[in-house]
Amino acid sequence: MIVASTPSALKEHLAALRTRSVAVSFVPTMGNLHAGHLALMQQARQSAEVVVASIFVNPMQFAENEDLATYPRTMDADLAALREAGVDMVFTPNVEDIYPGGSALHTAIHVPVLGDSLCGRDRPGHFDGVCTVVCKLFQIVEPDIAVFGEKDLQQLLIIKQMVRDLGLPVEVQHGPTQRAEDGLALSSRNQYLSDAERALAPLLWQTLQDCAQALKTPAISEAERVLTPARDALQRAGFAVDYLELRTLSALDLIHQVTEDCAVFVAARLGRTRLIDNIQILAP
Ligand code: PAJ
Repeated sequence: MIVASTPSALKEHLAALRTRSVAVSFVPTMGNLHAGHLALMQQARQSAEVVVASIFVNPMQFAENEDLATYPRTMDADLAALREAGVDMVFTPNVEDIYPGGSALHTAIHVPVLGDSLCGRDRPGHFDGVCTVVCKLFQIVEPDIAVFGEKDLQQLLIIKQMVRDLGLPVEVQHGPTQRAEDGLALSSRNQYLSDAERALAPLLWQTLQDCAQALKTPAISEAERVLTPARDALQRAGFAVDYLELRTLSALDLIHQVTEDCAVFVAARLGRTRLIDNIQILAP
């Protein structure tokens, strides 16, 4: 496995491979890899001869008050896991490589509407940072395919729109959310949870499943009849709920009934840890 820490090193190694006109599949990450990331690597492997991963904790997608400084950085273990997963190349740039003048002065990509609701509302500028770095990484790696997780469903939809709007020559694929045995979606931020919070956390997925089940019954004509009590129950259990909403997959419009493909999206805080998850519901 080749580890390239600068864009020029990566481009050089990739140029050598491209002479054989092989397909390149790319999985961008912020490191601290878990089975969710590694499942995306396996998926990438199935669709291309060359798999490239990146590890870059992107300062532009963190707000001032967020966890950039404490975000878990486990480079050695990550590289070992990627090697084991059969990844061909890992790109590990530093901040200056990506944002030579600093991220605050950098051009930002904003995807309107999709990027303004849910986490976009609670974390202003977050998705601009995500889009900007993903676009820059695409320009460096020039992948044929890029793979993202459904765990971050809003992020996936936003990236798809960015790729469409900017005409980026990459096919966006997605992989299902990987979960712990008790249902909690795997996330690098789960390790912030105390033992008591970790024991409570699976209630989020349980709640999403219960909501989806209830919303699928034709008798429910007003989603709030399901969502309001679910929000209250999460609050009573100790979560601070940022949102629990039924929205369409096409435009993230709020809807009151399952009339088209949609998802229940949730973000809730346990102590200082913000957890997000979602469950998709297909139109009847
Ligand atoms: P990160 O949180 O490291 O996630 C990298 C990729 O792994 C994303 O596509 C994410 O959706 C996926 N992923 C995370 N947890 C998952 C799980 N439990 N199951 C399946 N896939 C999962 O998302 C980011 O980094 C960044 O925003 C990034 C796109 C790299 C831009 O900086």
